[in-house]
Order: sequence, then structure tokens, then C-alpha cells
Amino acid sequence: MLQGRRVLLAVTGGVAAYKSAFLARRLVEAGAEVKVILTESAREFIGPQTFAAITGAQPHMSLFGEPSVSPHTDLARWCEVVIVAPATASTIGKVANGISSDLVSATLLSAGSPVLLAPAMHTEMWEHPATQRNIKTLESDGYLFIGPVAGALAGGDVGMGRVSEPDEIVEAIERILSPDESGLRVLVTAGGTREPLDPVRYLGNRSSVKMGHAIANEAALRGIRVTLVTASNMAAGPTVTVVAVETADEMAEAVFGEDIDVAIMAAAVADFQPSKSSEGKISRTDGLDSIELIPTPDVLASVVARDPKPFVVGFAAETGGVERAIEKALEKKVDLLVYNDITEPGSGFETDTNRVVLIDSKGTTDAWPLMSKQEVASLLLDRIATMMAARG
Ligand SMILES: Cc1cc2nc3c(=O)[nH]c(=O)nc-3n(C[C@H](O)[C@H](O)[C@H](O)COP(=O)(O)O)c2cc1C
Repeated sequence: MLQGRRVLLAVTGGVAAYKSAFLARRLVEAGAEVKVILTESAREFIGPQTFAAITGAQPHMSLFGEPSVSPHTDLARWCEVVIVAPATASTIGKVANGISSDLVSATLLSAGSPVLLAPAMHTEMWEHPATQRNIKTLESDGYLFIGPVAGALAGGDVGMGRVSEPDEIVEAIERILSPDESGLRVLVTAGGTREPLDPVRYLGNRSSVKMGHAIANEAALRGIRVTLVTASNMAAGPTVTVVAVETADEMAEAVFGEDIDVAIMAAAVADFQPSKSSEGKISRTDGLDSIELIPTPDVLASVVARDPKPFVVGFAAETGGVERAIEKALEKKVDLLVYNDITEPGSGFETDTNRVVLIDSKGTTDAWPLMSKQEVASLLLDRIATMMAARG
């Protein structure tokens, strides 16, 4: 519930602006005090009167000519959370680059409270390197994101870029405003480790780290104390404690040093490493007949073997079918194994989406449909919470 909580809803200019009327309605129904700000473009899609009728107050629309002499700072100081829905590529770009040329962007730059952005745009705009660059910048500046998700877009198109549904946004705002008080310590591992052959070359894998980072960010969004041990330099949410590592040995050591109630082992840890790494670059003229490999530490097994045993979630990116993954879940004695077949389109490494099958400790499977990695992260955390609650 959001009884008496002060929520600032910023609406920018996309077709999904109509959904923000539903969002405003849901926020009011949840008991929030809602103020709305609209960009000039947003007003091409939805009129201020709609929001005035829903919230009981006229939306704010301009830096100049408002009753307040400084509406952006007043609004920024008033609210406990800002939600930008829909968030256009243009407004995302402005804020990522410190441009504050209208009321919405100036308010976002003034806000000291958490800012949640719900992007909505066509897939081409979402995938554009400039948009992705801006998202990364905002993430590392501490902005929070919900969505976008894959689905039907304006004009009959289908793809990534659909705004999250109002109810999901309200739930995210509730989580932001009422942090998790369980005190649980959650560890997430992410990324593909790199095992050096010499100072230049390494044995690695194609893990894009997106799944692990999505889980850590989603946990942080819920106010959970989360440590992310990651073999990448990708940014994480502001409240995530990040431990950067490179090799399987370093990952094992970092995990060993953590007190853990829940371990979500999404990293693709190398199974083998070169038996020795040359100090100098191995030259073509010196030649290299073969590389001797030795096993790396089994980080997952070391977590499962702890006493008391944390709740352990393993990940298996496989090509061998779900039967092999079920065997693995039972062998590894994890509480949950998240399996995905990396040969399937839209699944596995380097994609924004994933189709996973959850396998529990008895080998029971639950196949989820194709969805964004952020949605997988959210549903996975819900599932872990349900399973832990059932165990007491
Ligand atoms: C019909 C139509 C639909 C649009 N939908 C979107 C959209 O979903 N996402 C987006 O980023 N831009 C969209 N745009 C472009 C934005 O309206 C435009 O970039 C505008 O300058 C955004 O301004 P604002 O961020 O200040 O609201 C759309 C434009 C039109 C004409």
C-alpha cells in the first residue's frame, strides 16, 4: 500500500502515455498522493485534464509561468519517488547527458529521491547504441529501471520496447518505498570468468552477464541486501555491493568471504583453466604445441557444502536438453536449477530475453515462456521467496 506516500509521475511523449492514466489511477487507489508532470510531447498523446480528474490536481507542464517560481526544485523536494512512464528515448538521453531543458528533465536532475524509469519505444530505438549507452550511464548514476518488456508495440509491431504494465509499476514503487526488512543476505554471481594463458590471451566464454546483473538489480530494487560477484565491468544498481573478479579462482575466493542466506549462481564459471599462465606473451615463433588444462574450483559445490546451507540457485546453460539439466540439479543438490537451452532463439548468452525451465531439488520442472531477463529475474525472486516461506 502507498497510503500517504508522495509519488511524482512524469509522463513523456509516446503512445504508451495513455497507460499512465491507468497508472495514475492505480497509484491513487493505493492511497498515494500523486502529482503529474507532462512534457510538451506527452500532451500530444494525452490531455492534462485526464490526469487532473484522476489525481484531483492540475498537472505541471512548464518551467516557466507556474505558480511556483522554481517548479522543478519544488516538485523534486516534495516527492518520495519519481516514476517516469512512459520514458522516451529522448528524455532518457537528456537526463543521461545532464540536459535539463524542460520541466521533466529539470525535475529529474533535481531529484534526490529514487527515480524509476519505465522506457517505452520501438525496438529499433531501444536497441540503438545511443539508447543503450544512455541506459548504462543512468544505471551507474543510480537510476532504476522497470522494463521494457517484449510484446505488441504501436503500429502493429511486435518486439522489445513495450512499457511495463501499470500494476507492475505500482508494485515496483511499493517495493522501493518499503525496503525488505528480512535482513537476508543475497549473493549473486554473474559473468563469464577469464582464465589467462599469458598477459594478452585467455580462455573465456560467451556469457554476457545480463542475467546475473538483472537479478542483482531487481533484488536491490526490492530493498534486499545484495552482493554481486561479477566477472564484468558492467554497471550495477547503486545499492548493490559489487565485487569485481576475473578468474574462477578469484570468484571462488570472493564467494568464500561472503556470509550468505541465498546464493544465486548465475555466473558462467570456467570448468578448466590452463595449468600455467606465461608471464610474458607467448610468441608465434616460440610456438605452443598444446595447452594443459586443470579443473577450476567448483564454486557452486562449495556453496552447497556450507553448514548451514544457504538457499542455492544454480544456472545451467546447456545444449543437451532438459533431461541432462534434471540430472545436474539432482547431482549438484541445489534448491533450484535455472536451465536454458542456449541453442534456442532468444535464449541464453548475449540476448535481452530468456526462456528458462526451473528444476527443483526433486527434479520437478516448470517451463516459463520467453520473456525479458528482467522479468525472469523478478519472477525468480518471487519464486525463491515463496519456496523459502514454505520452508519457514
Ligand atoms: C506517433 C508517435 C509515437 C511515438 N512514440 C514514441 C515512443 O513510444 N517512445 C519514444 O521514445 N518516442 C516516441 N515518439 C517520439 C517522441 O514523441 C519524440 O522523441 C519527442 O521529442 C519526445 O519528447 P519528450 O521526451 O520530451 O516527451 C513518438 C512520436 C510519434 C509521432
